[in-house]
Amino acid sequence: MLLKKKLCIGALFCGILFFMFATHTIQKNNVLSTLVEAPRTTARSIIKNHTQSQAVTQSVQQHSCSCSTCVADLGISEWFDQRFDRKQQPYLTTEGKKVDPLALKWWLALQRSVDGTIEEVMKKMFTVISPPPVEELRQPSRCRTCAVVGNSGNLLQFKYGAVIDSHSIVFRMNKAMTLGFEQHVGNKTTHHFMYPESAVDLKPGVHLVLLPFKLRDLQWVTSALSTGEIKTTYVRVKERVEADKDKVIVVNPTFFKYTHDHWTEHHGRYPSTGMLAIVFALHLCDEVSVFGYGADLQGNWHHYWEDNKYAGAFRKTGVHNADFESEIISKLNTEGKIKLYPKVKKQANLKLYG
Ligand code: C5P
Repeated sequence: MLLKKKLCIGALFCGILFFMFATHTIQKNNVLSTLVEAPRTTARSIIKNHTQSQAVTQSVQQHSCSCSTCVADLGISEWFDQRFDRKQQPYLTTEGKKVDPLALKWWLALQRSVDGTIEEVMKKMFTVISPPPVEELRQPSRCRTCAVVGNSGNLLQFKYGAVIDSHSIVFRMNKAMTLGFEQHVGNKTTHHFMYPESAVDLKPGVHLVLLPFKLRDLQWVTSALSTGEIKTTYVRVKERVEADKDKVIVVNPTFFKYTHDHWTEHHGRYPSTGMLAIVFALHLCDEVSVFGYGADLQGNWHHYWEDNKYAGAFRKTGVHNADFESEIISKLNTEGKIKLYPKVKKQANLKLYG
């Protein structure tokens, strides 16, 4: 009787051990296969895996801001929740020195030549610019409204100046200007996205938001705000830029890869300035309004301040995919995550192109 009892306990113990071993092996294999498969994963599988992990947090979701709608709230749009990764750190901080190696590999492969390591370059850069404070991206008591202003010629068809300026944050980009166009584009700028080839001087207090498409761009911002030694990238660039060194924000190279994987889904070689600015705003703002996006009838990214008829070269080179980006922007609007201007009334058949 005692022997039978002992045998039973032994069998039970062995069973538990076997179960633990099997579960561990399966988990380990899953982790390993994710690591091994990672470089070959498609945009769709990245998004699918992401959805599964987000589903866990979904049940404990609370209102993430005090606006009437909050971009980061889960459960409003499944399509959005599949793509939006709240764990992303959109900009570089000294603390976040280690850049994800896979994203870094992809980012470095976009450039013609690489001179130095990202660690060295960042170290030097943060001796010139102040590291931005690591702030809480979301606060339930805050309502941060943002206007993202693209450079489309369609802005001239409307007088959105006052609406744009009514936002607490106004993002502009590249060669954007406001002087003489205030009725159409407003005159407030809190953040200005640029890279060396598109750099402009900024008014005091405006955040220079560097989009580093290459390592040289990090070296350039360091130089342009100090010695002015860098005069060229692949073309001649502005040697010095007027901007507040304490207000520089450098977009994380990891964020380019995230936007490419989750949002533009590998359409084009890498996302455009305008696409990156919108995704950046989704991560920093509670409400996002978007103005000045839309090519002309020939598919050119025409500007509101100049006649640049032939601005469609990216179509031939495949660098950006303007059509796909435009679909994503429209989808964000129909899913209630951004407010896209002009608001198109279906029956009005409004002409969007300038
Ligand atoms: O032309 P530029 O690159 O300076 O424009 C900034 C961004 O504005 C682009 O990356 C694009 O996303 C958007 N844009 C647009 N339609 C235009 C011009 C610009 O959508 N006609």
